[in-house]
Amino acid sequence: SAQEVPDMMPPPGCSGGNCHPPTGNLVIGRGQSLRTSSTCGLHGPELYCVVSKLQDSQNCCFCDSRDGKSHGIENVVSRSDPDGRKTWWQAESGVENVTIQLDLEGAFYFTHLIMTFKTFRPAALLLERSVDHGHSWHVFRYFAHNCSGLFPGIPPAPGRRVSDLVCDQRYSDIEPATEGEVIFQVLDPSFLAENTNNAEIQELLRVTNLRVNFSKLHTLGDRPLGGLRGHPFYYYALYELVIAGSCLCHGHASECRPAPGSPPSVEGMVHGHCVCRHHTTGTHCERCQGLYQDHPWQAAEPGYPHTCQECKCHGHARSCHFDMALYLASGNVSGGVCDACQHNTAGRHCELCQPFFHRDPLEDPRSLHSCKPCDCNPMGALEGGLCDAYTDTTRGLLSGQCRCKVHVWGQRCDSCRPGHYGLSLTQSEGCQPCRCNARGRVPSTQACDPSSGACHCKRFVSGRDCSRCLPEFWGLSSDSLGCRPCDCDFGGAYSNRCSAGQGLCLCRPHLHGRHCQELQSGYFCATLDQATAEAEHGRSLQPADPQLPVSVQQGQGEIKAHTLGLRAGRAHFARVVDGAGLSLLAPTVPRALDYDIVLRYETQVSGMVASQVGGWCQVVGWGSFLTVVLLPRVGELPGLRSVDPGALRRLQELHEAGCLEAARVSPPQSMPEACARLACSISALLHGGGLACECHLQGSLSTECAPLGGQCPCRPNITGRTCDRCLPGTFGLGPTGCHGEPSGPVGVGSGTSMSFLYVA
Ligand SMILES: *[C@@H]1O[C@H](CO)[C@@H](O)[C@H](O)[C@H]1NC(C)=O
Ligand SMILES: *[C@@H]1O[C@H](CO)[C@@H](O)[C@H](O)[C@H]1NC(C)=O
Ligand SMILES: *[C@@H]1O[C@H](CO)[C@@H](O)[C@H](O)[C@H]1NC(C)=O
Ligand SMILES: *[C@@H]1O[C@H](CO)[C@@H](O)[C@H](O)[C@H]1NC(C)=O
Repeated sequence: SAQEVPDMMPPPGCSGGNCHPPTGNLVIGRGQSLRTSSTCGLHGPELYCVVSKLQDSQNCCFCDSRDGKSHGIENVVSRSDPDGRKTWWQAESGVENVTIQLDLEGAFYFTHLIMTFKTFRPAALLLERSVDHGHSWHVFRYFAHNCSGLFPGIPPAPGRRVSDLVCDQRYSDIEPATEGEVIFQVLDPSFLAENTNNAEIQELLRVTNLRVNFSKLHTLGDRPLGGLRGHPFYYYALYELVIAGSCLCHGHASECRPAPGSPPSVEGMVHGHCVCRHHTTGTHCERCQGLYQDHPWQAAEPGYPHTCQECKCHGHARSCHFDMALYLASGNVSGGVCDACQHNTAGRHCELCQPFFHRDPLEDPRSLHSCKPCDCNPMGALEGGLCDAYTDTTRGLLSGQCRCKVHVWGQRCDSCRPGHYGLSLTQSEGCQPCRCNARGRVPSTQACDPSSGACHCKRFVSGRDCSRCLPEFWGLSSDSLGCRPCDCDFGGAYSNRCSAGQGLCLCRPHLHGRHCQELQSGYFCATLDQATAEAEHGRSLQPADPQLPVSVQQGQGEIKAHTLGLRAGRAHFARVVDGAGLSLLAPTVPRALDYDIVLRYETQVSGMVASQVGGWCQVVGWGSFLTVVLLPRVGELPGLRSVDPGALRRLQELHEAGCLEAARVSPPQSMPEACARLACSISALLHGGGLACECHLQGSLSTECAPLGGQCPCRPNITGRTCDRCLPGTFGLGPTGCHGEPSGPVGVGSGTSMSFLYVA
């Protein structure tokens, strides 16, 4: 029986990494998959006889499958029907060449076969198998009671190798008359001493179809001359056919389930679809799972599960494929190539990024966001926004670095290189060089504004390209400030602007020099107190003169008026007696301006009071009146007004040097040197330029006058700024001066007298 067959298959389950599904009878549940070439009683009643053991009694009856007692091939699946009655398959009587075929729905392992006969076993039969669904057949084994006679040329069993084709004589005796067995075992233990490799065994066990060819009936005694056809004693009949085997899983599964298209499942059925382990897949675990293709697929072997190895795809691929060339090149370490890397990754292991993406070094390589899109500024980037996919300092790669146009830099190519500006799409070089004047621009910084291109100029430089001096500056040079101040004289020049090249200020008439501080020859500048009226040139008003104020006429107050008359002396003194008036022609003023009226009153007795009476200026004092000076209120002049640049400094200079005070006191002090310069500027402002000397041709020694004040050098006994008058007491102005003896100095008024001055 089947149980007596030594089972060469390992027990089901997994051991040592090698898995085995349970072995069972492949025909269970597959009665519909059995075919035979001959079945008795298919077309009508057919006589057959059963020969008893004693051979003297015979029991004949009819085989008629239409009467419900079918003897079809499906009966070999089990020995009896559900009611316990024996069932069998029976071929037509006397038909010698009969086949039984099992067509499996797929490949299975086939380990052994046991046929239990109802009648005599065949005198000869052969077992064939197909591994390609019946397209081609190969004999597995021959069975005959006389191998050399029936299958000449086939060596007798056992062969040398398990795969040898041999003829077995053990199962073809005519005895027993019933219940005789024919047994076939693929891995016959008698062969297994031979070292057969795993792959060869796998191949031997594999079947898709099995066929048994019964080719010779045993007969009792001689064969009738007319052949056996229709002879009721001789036919093939099988109680049971056991085809033991298992699901074919290459050692990668320990259980199987029904394959699609297989017959309906029944208890004890061997299913054909493996439940694969070791990351294999397929009906027979004949290949590796999609993501486990790093090593070539192999059937499991005892001690070696040959588990499929996962491709390293960093979680970005659902499948990979095996590349033998890569595998061999790696020294059989890895041959997997990831398929269709997702999440913008690329490369054999999805370890790279697709073009236009780059690896984020901060992200895990398995992260969905490990490849970030290149972020390039289209205006500055080349190659359509391609960037370095990863960082490799030896190759000069920086992850995310875009390919910049020649004058552009930055990871995104979004900035102009130093010294360039105006990032633009249309510029083939991205940015254009700054066009800055080398002397005018600030040397240490970015040469120009990267967007506008405006250059960064030195302090006193202007212009988009720093090629111009600021107004009131000149002489663009490499100096730290770029240009020098014009420094035009605030009076000598019309303004503080000067020519860019030479710094020439625009001078008022008769002044020259770069700053307009030099006088043309024959010209001078006025002193601050130039506008004077000397008493000696005034007209005396006798007391009670109607021109005098009424209060003076009426002798109000302590005024006791009488005049001593007016005398002029050498020292320009004028003597005025009490009560008398003095009318002076106001000195010509060059410009409408507020003036301080300064009365220089030289006195031997201190104390002088000046007050205003009805539009008149009243001076009360002891001594003699000398000079009326109109002193300009310079603080109102351009260049000295507090709003003008430099005004404060100039006013300060005027005060510190005491220039204004010097002009007030009597006798006038010689101007301090510092004042001369300022006085000259003020003069140029007041008079609109230099003043002509106009030295008297005869009275003066020269046509040149003093640059400040304009005093011409006078010949003897000649006086006046232009040397046009003889001193008092002298006469006859001529090329040798004036003649005669000048009168001595005139003394001041007597101590008893008081002088009053009224100036309209
Ligand atoms: C049976 O088959 C064998 C071999 O193919 C052949 O020689 C023989 O004639 C056949 N017998 C009949 C009765 O067809
Ligand atoms: C087997 O057959 C051969 C050839 O027909 C014959 O010579 C031999 O005697 C037979 N052997 C037996 C044991 O019948
Ligand atoms: C077995 O039987 C089949 C069907 O009759 C036949 O085609 C085949 O040739 C036979 N095989 C051999 C080895 O005789
Ligand atoms: C590598 O694998 C190939 C193919 O499976 C095999 O032929 C070769 O012998 C192996 N080489 C080594 C060094 O294992």
